[in-house]
Formats: sequence, structure tokens, C-alpha cells
Amino acid sequence: MNTTRTAPKPADRKKSAAAGRPVATSVVYGPAILFLALPMYEWIGNAAFFYAETQDYTMLLLNLPSRLFALIGFVLMFYQFVLGIRVPILETVFSRATNLKRHRTLGKAGFVLILLHGVLMLGYDYSIADQFIFDRYRIIGLVALGLLIVGVLAAWFFKPLKLSRKTWKTVHLLAYVAFPLGFIHGRALGTEFATGRWTVSALFNGLLAVYVLLLIYRLYVYLELPKRRR
Ligand code: HEM
Repeated sequence: MNTTRTAPKPADRKKSAAAGRPVATSVVYGPAILFLALPMYEWIGNAAFFYAETQDYTMLLLNLPSRLFALIGFVLMFYQFVLGIRVPILETVFSRATNLKRHRTLGKAGFVLILLHGVLMLGYDYSIADQFIFDRYRIIGLVALGLLIVGVLAAWFFKPLKLSRKTWKTVHLLAYVAFPLGFIHGRALGTEFATGRWTVSALFNGLLAVYVLLLIYRLYVYLELPKRRR
């Protein structure tokens, strides 16, 4: 019988840490899954009618998928913020390294979805109006997308762009500005968000409220930390 003991690999340690706190992990995963499922459920309720009853291909291929991408992308953006801001309570459940890894993975997914949303919506507008529509709230969406692209690309390509850590981190903050702009834009234009049942708008209002609280917390840490080190 082999009795040699080997030290657990870091990945195993991480797994067992999370496995040792099933209640804490389900307190995180439960709402995280629910927040994604709720807007998807609303979207399915609206989309089912169109997919079953109409042959309006611009609606079926551009508008509806784009709306789904926006709803999921918006929630993922919120998760990005929570994971990136290093919320202490979350770090008692998952290690900082795990949170940062998820920040990168979910960030890619959220970014691609929001990008697809914008592109498909521009295509949809063009296909129904024969021109791009630039009203106030679409322009806010466009600005949000622009900030997101710059903020994300700075983080992805800081090495080839030869950006210092301080520079890319500062530019990356633009991605966080995109979130409230996306909120204003989606609230004004969104079918599920603005005119759907109260659930999506209650959820998204809640996400914005938590975003503001986290922002205040982060600002507090930023201003207080240097003082304590003095
Ligand atoms: C080129 C940029 C963008 C354009 C042209 C655009 C266009 C639109 C339009 C036309 C709608 C209304 C869809 C409908 O219900 O029929 C919409 C909804 C929405 N957009 Fe955008 N958008 C852009 C960027 C963004 C960005 C960057 C975000 C997030 C940060 C975002 C988040 C949302 C959300 C959450 C909704 C609500 C979806 C729903 O309730 O169904 N959009 N967008």
C-alpha cells in the first residue's frame, strides 16, 4: 500500500475550500443564477410569440437575439463589477484568485454579448428605417459601448500596447462608467426592461443600487487606505 502523502495541488485546495462551505457558496450562486434567469424568462415570454406566430425575420434574427444579449450582458457586467472591486464578503467564500479568474472569463462573455447587442441593434434599425437611428438614448448606448471597448481592450492588450499597470487600470475604469450609461439607455428603450413586467426593472434598479453602494465603498477604501498607512 502506498502511504506517501503529497501536498494538495492549489486547484484542489481551492475546490475543497468552496466545498467546505456549501451554504455560503449557494448563497452566492443562487442569486447569481436567479439574476440571469429572471430576464431570460421575461424574454422567452415575449419572444415565444414572435417565433411561433410571425415571419418577420428582422425581428426574429436581429431584434430579439439582440435584446437577449443585452439582458444577459448587462447582468454579467454587474458581476464584473462585483468581482473586480474585490468585495471582502465575497472573498470569504472564494479566493481572490478565483474571483479574478471569473472576472476575466465572465468579462469576455459579457463584452461579446454587449458588442453583439449593439451591432445587431444598429442592423435592426437600419433594416427597418433604411438609415441608422441616432436618438438621445441610442447615442447613450453608443457612448457606453465605446467606453466599454476602450476599457476592455486596455486590459486585454496592455502588454502589446505597452501600457503601465497604472495606465491600463485607469483606462479600465471606463468599463465601469459604461454600466450606469447602459442602465439609462436600457431603461429608456428596452422592451423587457422598460415596458415589461416589473420584475426586470426591479432587478435592474436593484443592481444599480448595489453598484452605487459598491462604488461608495471602493471610493472610501481608496481614500482611507493611504491615510492608515501613514
Ligand atoms: C451601438 C450601441 C447600442 C445600440 C445601437 C443599442 C440599441 C438598443 C435598442 C434599440 C434597444 C431597445 C430594444 C428593444 O426593446 O426593442 C436596446 C435595449 C437595451 N440595451 Fe442597448 N444599444 C447599444 C448599446 C448598449 C450597451 C453598451 C448596453 C449595456 C451596457 C446596452 C444595454 C441595453 C439593455 C439592458 C437593453 C434592454 C433590453 C430589453 O429590455 O429588452 N445597450 N438597446
